[in-house]
Amino acid sequence: MSGALGTGGSRSVRVYEDATALARAAADLFAEAARAAVSERGRFFVALSGGSTPRTLYQLLAAPPYHDQVDWSRTFVFWGDERFVPPDDPDSNYRMAREALLFHVPIPTSQVFRMPGEMADPTAAAALYEQSVRRAFALAPGEWPRFDLVLLGLGPDGHTASLFPHTSALGVTDRLVVANRVEKLGTTRITLTAPAINSAAVVVFLVAGADKAEPLAAVLEGPPRPDDLPAQLIAPVHGELLWLVDRAAAAQLRSPPG
Ligand code: 6PG
Repeated sequence: MSGALGTGGSRSVRVYEDATALARAAADLFAEAARAAVSERGRFFVALSGGSTPRTLYQLLAAPPYHDQVDWSRTFVFWGDERFVPPDDPDSNYRMAREALLFHVPIPTSQVFRMPGEMADPTAAAALYEQSVRRAFALAPGEWPRFDLVLLGLGPDGHTASLFPHTSALGVTDRLVVANRVEKLGTTRITLTAPAINSAAVVVFLVAGADKAEPLAAVLEGPPRPDDLPAQLIAPVHGELLWLVDRAAAAQLRSPPG
């Protein structure tokens, strides 16, 4: 299933037998994106997703053959979102990626841009992270970062990153990073905004499991209602949108791709 999105963007949905096959396809895609970015620009800028789905992908990247297919010395790692917890907290997206991937690859620590979830003031934490992203990309005022790859997940409620339904972050158009109060979780998160994600070259959703079948069908085939289904906000302006999903998550798609 493909179709033009936004102005110049493209979208495709690829279905894999199970979560393992999905993770392997994602690892191939990650390695290719890294190779192309380093070859063309000398650096690879990637924003990692949190949650549990990407863990298998990160573990694949941490070991041969993928470990040696990525030039980690030229890779710059960011996050799409983070919980407001210290970096060694079990809920930390950074901790999950550190244990599954970053501990196992020779990436310079100066090229790992952790969201400061340990800070007391969420707004200050978001502003600090925005500054570090701007500095890393050497952005001029008003410019948007063009990540070579942004990895995202899909929550059962249609959220992605920490863009949750009916939260203030959904309407932000002038910042890269915001603190987002999520009342239903009783917590605040740090998240990239939709325009920051949509300025990327390639955005890839990794969606696995039967519990994602309903939200996936609603996001991909239902009417546009991004306040209820924030993943519908993701439409790269001049980039590619890929949905890598497993068969269980694709079960309710009317027009199964491929
Ligand atoms: C987070 C993620 C979040 C996640 C989805 C899917 O911080 O939890 O950024 O957006 O990607 O909730 O999570 P699973 O992959 O665990 O289903």
